Amino acid sequence: MTQKVRKAVLPVAGLGTRFLPATKAIPKEMLTIVDKPAIQHVVDEARAAGIEHFVFVTGRNKGAIEDHFDIQFELDRTLRDRSKIKELDLLAADLPAAGQTSFTRQQAPLGLGHAVWCARDIIGDEPFALLLPDMLHYGKQPCLKGMIADFDSHGGNIVAAYAVPESDTSQYGIVGVKAAGAHQAITEMVEKPKAGTAPSNLAISGRYILRPEIFSILETQERGAGGEIQLTDAMIKLAKQQPFYAYHFDGEVFDTGMKIGFLLANLALGLDHAELGAPLRAALMDRLK
Ligand code: G1P
Repeated sequence: MTQKVRKAVLPVAGLGTRFLPATKAIPKEMLTIVDKPAIQHVVDEARAAGIEHFVFVTGRNKGAIEDHFDIQFELDRTLRDRSKIKELDLLAADLPAAGQTSFTRQQAPLGLGHAVWCARDIIGDEPFALLLPDMLHYGKQPCLKGMIADFDSHGGNIVAAYAVPESDTSQYGIVGVKAAGAHQAITEMVEKPKAGTAPSNLAISGRYILRPEIFSILETQERGAGGEIQLTDAMIKLAKQQPFYAYHFDGEVFDTGMKIGFLLANLALGLDHAELGAPLRAALMDRLK
């Protein structure tokens, strides 16, 4: 029987240089998508998939994330004194339970592979989920939930992938697959291939289920694309010993680390929002006239 996926790693140490000046004093993960910080949307996805423990790999100036996932005592008391029950319920719903979060620091920006490796002791010897908070997955079923169902029936390692325009393949990890379909064996992986050399247009969308053997490969700290310790390179090595499958997410993926992806995510979620959807649609129609 496959071991259960209980823990998730969320790397949040990135400097957010693609989003300056907004991210000069605020972690990029705290920028809001409609009415919640981007990181909350991703934690919600993981909770909906049954994740019990959230491991944040943080860095300097990221304290706001830790505060966000804690009780704000003064705020709670003030809301209680003012009988603001709806707001109190909102805060409570977003909060993981006591003991469900861990924070560890990536002391230097050495790449995604290094960030994941920093979580090795907290994860231990069990399969885990990895969610890159820049990538918002929006669909009927949370992406990670579908991946965990896939993992429970097939095991192995699973990487979510989505089709991007050929012109964008050099910005992502790209996978080659055996055949079309929802659950496909990965035959090739390459991190940020040079233009015209990508094995397909299927980009790694920032959701993974990995087996713990990845840590001993990351331990070697070999540098890859951009001089960074790349997770994709470690996965290529692990794929020689264990199966890797591509998971096709039935929904939209927004790269909210880019200004245009961030704006589009706000529009998509805003238009679907129970209270804001109708007035936003009306205002947009008016503006586009
Ligand atoms: C990372 C991964 C890459 C993946 C991307 C998704 O790259 O290395 O394989 O496609 O996230 O956002 P980064 O965006 O950190 O450069």
